[in-house]
Amino acid sequence: MLPKAFPTPQLYRPGAGEPALRWGVLAPGWIAHAFANAVNKRTRQRLAAVASRSPERASTFAAEHGIDRVHSSYAALVGDPDIDVVYIAAPQSEHLALGLLAIGAGKHTLIEKPMATNAADARILVRAAQDAGVLLMEAMWSRYLPQAAVIRALVADGVVGEIHAVVADHGQAVPRDPNHRLYRRDLGGGALLDLGIYPIQLDSMVLGAPRQVTAIGGLTDTGVDAYSTIVLTHDGIAQSTLTTSILTRTPTTALIAGSDARIEMAAPFHVPTSLTLAGNELFGETLTWRDETGVALMDGLAWEATALATFVGEGRKESPLHTLDETVSILATIDEARRQLGCADDEVAA
Ligand SMILES: NC(=O)c1ccc[n+]([C@@H]2O[C@H](COP(=O)([O-])OP(=O)(O)OC[C@H]3O[C@@H](n4cnc5c(N)ncnc54)[C@H](OP(=O)(O)O)[C@@H]3O)[C@@H](O)[C@H]2O)c1
Repeated sequence: MLPKAFPTPQLYRPGAGEPALRWGVLAPGWIAHAFANAVNKRTRQRLAAVASRSPERASTFAAEHGIDRVHSSYAALVGDPDIDVVYIAAPQSEHLALGLLAIGAGKHTLIEKPMATNAADARILVRAAQDAGVLLMEAMWSRYLPQAAVIRALVADGVVGEIHAVVADHGQAVPRDPNHRLYRRDLGGGALLDLGIYPIQLDSMVLGAPRQVTAIGGLTDTGVDAYSTIVLTHDGIAQSTLTTSILTRTPTTALIAGSDARIEMAAPFHVPTSLTLAGNELFGETLTWRDETGVALMDGLAWEATALATFVGEGRKESPLHTLDETVSILATIDEARRQLGCADDEVAA
């Protein structure tokens, strides 16, 4: 029997008592623009400063997003005493060094996904944040979206029953340019770290860490993982099939199938979307939930910013919805998949 209605999602709405933090934006590229737009439109957070390797890029970004202070280096930004939190939006290869820079300056730190290029480096960041007593969080924004809260509630309420499978994919046809960051080994390119992390984190959210990882796929000419299918086995009979690619645009849907019901997430499942709950009958009833918050597409990045401010206000040092242990565990899954695909050993550190 399906429930009559969906649970009300627990959301991090702005203006619910969270502090208005002063944010420093480090590395103003594509996602930093989307993040700044979302923060300015949809939160009570304050973008206070920006730093780029190029003074011109920093000034343009500051003008576009109403930011007062421009720093001429990343080091100057993290040393700014009027910044509470640093948002790191550089490519994956830079996350470890820049994360350590921000944490070392005593700032709360939000690092774009993936937190690092492998689990060992993520552990270094976690230890540094614990030693410094600052909050550290991976910008896995999908965790803070309304649909994620609905899914967590459906699973916790037992509506889905025992989860038997997650079937999810994230594939994009990224232009085949060897200089694009996703094709470059030196920038931490490859499908798994950038796109495959979304289906893997969904699997982790509902099933936890896998018992076994099996990956098949192939590399690009430039030596990064181009496409793969990952099978994750978990306790009980749970077996998940997750696909990713930087060569092919795939459906970007997700399914969580359990003994009593299944949840189907509409594409693209990692941004604000809708979901359908269905029982196990072949032609049975279904119930559809839609995100009616009015926060659409990349504006969904606002949820993670307000969530982070809430956690800081609560004195937390990590996200309760996506703990640092889980962040490391997801990277360990990616490490193992990349190792099986033949990615270079020096990148998939032990
Ligand atoms: N949450 C999401 O939906 C989402 C979407 C896309 C990307 N991301 C993540 O965000 C990060 C950045 O991706 P993006 O697409 O925004 O990249 P991008 O447009 O290439 O911007 C990255 C910025 O990083 C800075 N940077 C620092 N060191 C660099 C280096 N060695 N090479 C190139 N750039 C360097 C550059 O800024 P300055 O030179 O101006 O300092 C550059 O503009 C990645 O970790 C990615 O996984 C997240």
